Amino acid sequence: MTMRAYELELKYAAKKIAELTPLETTGSVSWKCPSNIAVVKYWGKYSGQIPANSSISMTLKEAVTKIRIDYKWSREIKGPKLNYTFEGKENSSFSRRILSYLLTLVDFMPWLQHTELTIDSANTFPHSAGIASSASAMSALAMGLCEVEEKLFGNKDMELCKRKSSYLARLGSGSASRSVYGQMAIWGKTANWANSSEEYAIAVEDIHDSFIGMKDSILIIESGTKEVSSSLGHDLMKTNPYSKVRFEVAEENMQRMSVILRNGDISQFIDIMENEALTLHSMMMTSQPGYILMKPNTVEAIHRIRDYRRRTGLSIGFTLDAGANVHILYPKSHAVSITNFINSELKDLCEQGKILHDEMGPGPERIKE
Ligand code: DP6
Repeated sequence: MTMRAYELELKYAAKKIAELTPLETTGSVSWKCPSNIAVVKYWGKYSGQIPANSSISMTLKEAVTKIRIDYKWSREIKGPKLNYTFEGKENSSFSRRILSYLLTLVDFMPWLQHTELTIDSANTFPHSAGIASSASAMSALAMGLCEVEEKLFGNKDMELCKRKSSYLARLGSGSASRSVYGQMAIWGKTANWANSSEEYAIAVEDIHDSFIGMKDSILIIESGTKEVSSSLGHDLMKTNPYSKVRFEVAEENMQRMSVILRNGDISQFIDIMENEALTLHSMMMTSQPGYILMKPNTVEAIHRIRDYRRRTGLSIGFTLDAGANVHILYPKSHAVSITNFINSELKDLCEQGKILHDEMGPGPERIKE
């Protein structure tokens, strides 16, 4: 596989870091990092976590992972060594996943080979809510590790640190690369954003006022684990007979979005967002073998949302992740009426009436101890 430009740059920098002696040998960092909801979806990838098409997402505010990393560096340590807890309790499956992730990072962070990490993470959203936690979890870990590196070897430019975190988060989970930035982020090379890259995400500049502070109310139609994992779903795109057209349409949608985000046309934004959600699920249905992650209440919610939009003329639209839950996006200017509608007319479709009200957020934040 050919090495990409930024990968080369990071590996070169890593060689230099490997020759340095740390400024300090113990310490701790704490971060909180949000989840994000894609408006143009990433679905399908090539080896090395390279997306088959570019994607754009809104960063959330309330759905976050909090992480604390205590580190100890010594030449004697044969690492990376990991003591991991989730919400204060041992969790062997998360722990195994994180350790194997740390091993893939050694090429970029050679100091990990002489480091013992004690990590605890926790999510603000309920564990069983069926919300994808990999985006917030992997970005929190990547941001935290980049700060550990800063503390060990001296200060770096914050923008460079975000780019590196996004790159490293991507290696853990593709959608996590976008969680490093507030408001909205793009991952993947796309024509109308000159600095876009398949190696890391970038922040979207010049977002029209009508999108700022946008709301996302999440209907928990079904919690628990999905029948088909995202990894398998991405993989099935390799043999999906419609994938080539899908990747082309995604690029067209990205180009249309670049105009819409600047001119503030919410109804076109909703048009693309809903089309993307239905396309994502139609890709699942047309995979070989095909599968369906929507539930009857997912479809019923979509009908009710569209009916409400027809009746009121208000800007409200839905999107779906790789699961049954429904994300409802709307501008903050309509928040009172739409929240009312959601709480009174959609609650009966949700598991135990569960709805999470979230909105566009500022991105990762360092937690002061
Ligand atoms: C439907 O980022 O979870 O949410 O890279 O294998 O970890 P991995 O996949 P993941 O896929 C997310 C898919 C999606 C769309 C999106 O977020 O763009």
